[in-house]
Amino acid sequence: MRTASGEVALAAWPHLQEMGRLTAEQRSLLQVLSTDRSAEELTERCPRDQAETLLAMLSSGGWLITTVVCGDRPLFSSRPLVPHRKPLPPAEPRRLSRFVSVRRDGDEFVVESPAAGAEVRLYDSRLAEPVLTACAAHRELPDVPSEAVRLLAGELADAGLLATAAETHSLSRAQWSPHELAFHHGSRLRGDHRMGQDFGGSYWAKGRFDAPPGKHPRWMEAAIELPRPDLDRLRVQDPALAEVMEARQSLRSYDEDTPLTVEELGEFLFRTARVRATGSDTEGLDISGRPYPAGGAAYELEVYPLVRNVRGLDAGLYHYAPHGHRLHLIPASATALRWLMKASAAGMTGEATPQVLLVIATRFGRLAWKYQAMGYALTLKHVGVLFQSMYLAATAMGLAPCALGVGDSNAFAEATGLDYFEETSVGEFALGSLPVARREGTG
Ligand SMILES: Cc1cc2nc3c(=O)[nH]c(=O)nc-3n(C[C@H](O)[C@H](O)[C@H](O)COP(=O)(O)O)c2cc1C
Repeated sequence: MRTASGEVALAAWPHLQEMGRLTAEQRSLLQVLSTDRSAEELTERCPRDQAETLLAMLSSGGWLITTVVCGDRPLFSSRPLVPHRKPLPPAEPRRLSRFVSVRRDGDEFVVESPAAGAEVRLYDSRLAEPVLTACAAHRELPDVPSEAVRLLAGELADAGLLATAAETHSLSRAQWSPHELAFHHGSRLRGDHRMGQDFGGSYWAKGRFDAPPGKHPRWMEAAIELPRPDLDRLRVQDPALAEVMEARQSLRSYDEDTPLTVEELGEFLFRTARVRATGSDTEGLDISGRPYPAGGAAYELEVYPLVRNVRGLDAGLYHYAPHGHRLHLIPASATALRWLMKASAAGMTGEATPQVLLVIATRFGRLAWKYQAMGYALTLKHVGVLFQSMYLAATAMGLAPCALGVGDSNAFAEATGLDYFEETSVGEFALGSLPVARREGTG
């Protein structure tokens, strides 16, 4: 882009780099750089010193992809991810960083790390070997010049894909497991993400796959109608929000002689998770309105009450159908249900087992059909939003709520028979009646 005063700026949202005044040769060079050109070709178009100044500016700004070729065969390329490359660490022995992953993309290999400043792409699978041995020895590879391997070693180092033993010496580095750092890095807007193109609400799957429907397509059989609360009565009789928020607490014991009732479970689900309205968004995705907020109003979360002790309801695993405010009993083996309960309740401080374990699953495709790279982060945020709504409703109703941080998605898959990739559990919430001492205000 050229400003009125003749200065040049490079723009690729959300980045803007002002390049100042460029010579006519530099401007013409800038234009041809969008296609593949050799280094020699570039310096032929523009005086060498001007070309080098421009290339240095582009490189430090993270605008250049460098490809090393052998004849006309590309060997590897390096694509900057952040504008400024990090300074090289001291010349201690460096090995592949523990954050590095090597994955296949079509016929190519991508070497990447959330801690690196660039991504290296290998077009020749034989180059994977020197990468995995971190280029310790620049060995001869058939048909690959050792010069190329040396250059690759340089690129890996420059990109920050190699690290010294110091990588685990500080808490700030050691505290990140590779999968958590990759998830964090990949699901935030970064320099190389393009909002609406490869990140965010791009609707990338439209035209390729049908959007998963708003209503759960699986649990359609005979259903149990749940009692509904009288909202007008609740509006008058509920404690004030300030009171509820101040009283909210995680409670982990129950009154087993006076357990939760099916009316209370019905009211609780109605107040937190039911569908209040339905529609579709501009691209045809089913959306709805519910008591808790959710990105894009897509509402991918499903609630599965695992009932142990509820008056008026048989023990077992149910799916909550939020459109009709109903429960569907899911046929599951007793062993699978015990495993599902145990995996979550094991993390709950104390001896009690929830009267109802609310397993929250994500029909991930509901979000991933629209959102790119950030869908999973979004679904976990939604779990937090739903947890707080559940805490507040339970407190207002005089029940015992507790969010749980641990659950077993394999146990959920085993109990429901659902495809792990299509729908998987992402949160668990324990619920029950208030223990006697608490109800009487003595504990
Ligand atoms: C996301 C999340 C996960 C939690 N995981 C557990 C858990 O696994 N076991 C447990 O006993 N409590 C769990 N809790 C409850 C916390 O221990 C509790 O909120 C915290 O100690 C503060 O106490 P309070 O909720 O009574 O204010 C969790 C809470 C949240 C929000």
